[in-house]
Amino acid sequence: MRPEEPIAIRLEDYRPPDWLVDTVHLDIDLHPTEARVIATLKMRPNPDADGARAIVLDGDELKLSRITLDGKTLDPRAYVATPERLTIPRPPSGPITLEIETLLNPSTNTQLMGLYQSNGIYCTQCEAEGFRRITYFPDRPDVMAVYTTRIEADKAAAPILLANGNMTESGDIDNGRHFAVWHDPFPKPSYLFAMVGGDLAFIEDTFRTMSGRDVALKIYVEHGKAHLCDYAMDSLKRSMRWDEEVFGREYDLDIFMIVAVADFNMGAMENKGLNIFNDKYVLASPETATDADYASIEAIVAHEYFHNWTGNRITCRDWFQLCLKEGLTVFRDQEFSADQRSAALERIGDVRNLRAIQFTEDSGPLAHPVRPSMYREINNFYTPTIYEKGAEIIRMLRVMIGREDFRRGMDLYFDRHDGDAATIEQFIACFAEASKRDLTHFSQWYSQAGTPHVAAEGQWNAEAKTYRLDLVQNTLPTPGQPSKEPQVIPLAVALFDEQGRAMKTDEHLIVLDRASQSVEFRNIKSRPVLSINREFSAPIVLRTNATEEDTQVLAAHDTDSFNRWQAIQTLAMKWLVAHVRGAEANTAAPLLDALKNVLADRKLAPAFVAQALAMPTEGDIAGEIAKNVDPDAIFRARKALRGTLSEELRASLQAAYDTYAASRGPFNPDAKSAGERALKNAALDLLAANGDAKAIALAARQFADADNMTDRMAALAALMPHDIPEREQAFKALYDRFENDPLVIDKWLTMQAMVPEAATFDRIKALTEHKAFSFKNPNRVRALIGAFAGNPSQFNRPDGAGYRYLTETAVAIDPQNPQLAARLMGAFKTWRRLEPGRAAAAEAALKAVAKAPNLSRDLADIVGRALA
Ligand code: PHE
Ligand code: ZN
Repeated sequence: MRPEEPIAIRLEDYRPPDWLVDTVHLDIDLHPTEARVIATLKMRPNPDADGARAIVLDGDELKLSRITLDGKTLDPRAYVATPERLTIPRPPSGPITLEIETLLNPSTNTQLMGLYQSNGIYCTQCEAEGFRRITYFPDRPDVMAVYTTRIEADKAAAPILLANGNMTESGDIDNGRHFAVWHDPFPKPSYLFAMVGGDLAFIEDTFRTMSGRDVALKIYVEHGKAHLCDYAMDSLKRSMRWDEEVFGREYDLDIFMIVAVADFNMGAMENKGLNIFNDKYVLASPETATDADYASIEAIVAHEYFHNWTGNRITCRDWFQLCLKEGLTVFRDQEFSADQRSAALERIGDVRNLRAIQFTEDSGPLAHPVRPSMYREINNFYTPTIYEKGAEIIRMLRVMIGREDFRRGMDLYFDRHDGDAATIEQFIACFAEASKRDLTHFSQWYSQAGTPHVAAEGQWNAEAKTYRLDLVQNTLPTPGQPSKEPQVIPLAVALFDEQGRAMKTDEHLIVLDRASQSVEFRNIKSRPVLSINREFSAPIVLRTNATEEDTQVLAAHDTDSFNRWQAIQTLAMKWLVAHVRGAEANTAAPLLDALKNVLADRKLAPAFVAQALAMPTEGDIAGEIAKNVDPDAIFRARKALRGTLSEELRASLQAAYDTYAASRGPFNPDAKSAGERALKNAALDLLAANGDAKAIALAARQFADADNMTDRMAALAALMPHDIPEREQAFKALYDRFENDPLVIDKWLTMQAMVPEAATFDRIKALTEHKAFSFKNPNRVRALIGAFAGNPSQFNRPDGAGYRYLTETAVAIDPQNPQLAARLMGAFKTWRRLEPGRAAAAEAALKAVAKAPNLSRDLADIVGRALA
């Protein structure tokens, strides 16, 4: 039977809580199958609420064993307890103390929400609505309380007991048990609660804050892994310093802890003073982690740390405001990475990612505003739109009002809202005040979904010496928003002459805020070349009337690295789209010239050259084509282009490879060394693109000789598209060497799932039976099944078997871990743009899921929206 559609939660229905909780005392007795939780809640009616005064507490699969009110056992007729709710219809009218005892089974908690075990370690995950799986509680972010947590456990099984805040007491009790008490003085919402108990190794360090306080830093991991935490610790210290220097934000407790666990649904979680991480974003050694892994560890450690101010000290009033903490914190971590590494390269990487994951979401059935107005399952809204587009809005805001007013607005926000559960309106008001601007229209970015398309057409008038730029914007309909209003789009613009020299008009900011408008530049003595949306000042899709020659000028001379890179991509994309549409004869000469140029330019950072050599992905091309997409035709076009580059650029690619292959010292994960490896490996990748025997031998040798995982994986990636024995030998060698390292096994699974051959489908099915694989661990599932869903030509097999396999897998995982199941279905966010045959197959697979019995709310919601 079809389950009922999960009920809609609407922003407009927001009401303040009827009851507030001032303090929470949790007494947690850890046991693998019968953990006991006694929650003592000091509650009082909310003076700011109207409405009924019943106490309604949230639960999720809870078993109540005891309840008292003001010390007296509550009469069974005075309350109603179900696994999902505890209601006291007629409570006293003043402050009360409730004591609630629940019994939990951490060992069978496969959802990884609430209290669960990961390799025997007790840990919790409460965002968004996991606290209600621990005890009955008003589990909403605007109920903020001071928490004291007492944990008791078997000392041998769990010698380490951690919770939020500072430890105030600990000691032994009889029967081999012991306890610890933690107190967090900062009021917080329940989603930031955390506790951990287990036999853990750790590394420690200290940080002296700007006001001279010493903070203890600890990173806890499973035994045998402590030597893999140094980079995470270093990233943490740099993050703490950076937040002081750039945002004036100081850490506030005496201790900051990170715990890494193997089973985690997401990347990491910012619980107050006790961040819990997926071990993928903590553990690293040159042997096992790539440069990209190091960069993610740095970014995610920073992200979670930055949440201490943007998320924890100031939290969200309700889940509709999720971007208030996530978009802002992504913006902050991107800025941090830009400062630690290279701003230009960070921007290129961020935009590549935005286009790959957010533009695709924004143009398909799962599109939603950065601040949604309705949801059915909040877990499904931890999306690229909330995170990445949310960060883009903050960046645009800074472009609009300037860096100084932006910083003043941030200061005002921290000042005014410290301790609050805030809204987007309150956040924006701080910047309106700081900059004395009306940001009403700008705020529409939060409520209107879809990526604006902007057409920019320039006309030079030789006689009048003017250059007129006509701008038109349009946003396509998205679910629930059939017609769109013009957005406020800040466009950074510069003009070059045809030789690539900057014209005297310096960079200029045009704010496009109507459906169409024109701007005129005067005293333009020769035909200019337009560089627009510099640094990607707005998250839009841009069309211009630039000629191919104009684009070549920018590819060679633009002073904005982002737009220089973009020009090269534009040349490549033009060739690719023409090829997909069957125009075989078009020439790649402009692109080849641009790339030769870049490869020969010794002043360019190697990391930039590597990005220039990385052609648009199959997903990028599909996005550009947008309708009637044939993934096989796209695959062939991209392969043909890379083959052409491989042949035409062979000498310079080989030279780039040799330059950086020769300069080898001990491994250093810093940006400069990573950039050199990136160029060497981008060259190798193109050299091998045709399967040329010499290049394959080179890749095989690099794989065998590599002293670090970056070079090893790059060599494997170069072999991967070719059905050759060297590839299979490399897969085997990687497994044999790292079979006991699950994080490397994930790379091994992913690489196999990405092979662009029909045999991949059977290979991944076989791998699910492999002893290294488990459907219970989210990292394994994402590494294999998630990567397969990201293999454009094979997931989109014309026979639809890829779609059916993914949906059947999601349905099978659903009862065990609904969040993981729903996330896998994200692969369907682009199904409507496929050619009719594949679209029909995808739709049929989705409809089969919709008919499956007992779907979780997570899966029912995603499938319902994907089909709507
Ligand atoms: N709040 C976490 C972050 O972005 C993400 C997360 C959400 C983790 C939900 C777990 C569960 O930093
Ligand atoms: Zn976050």
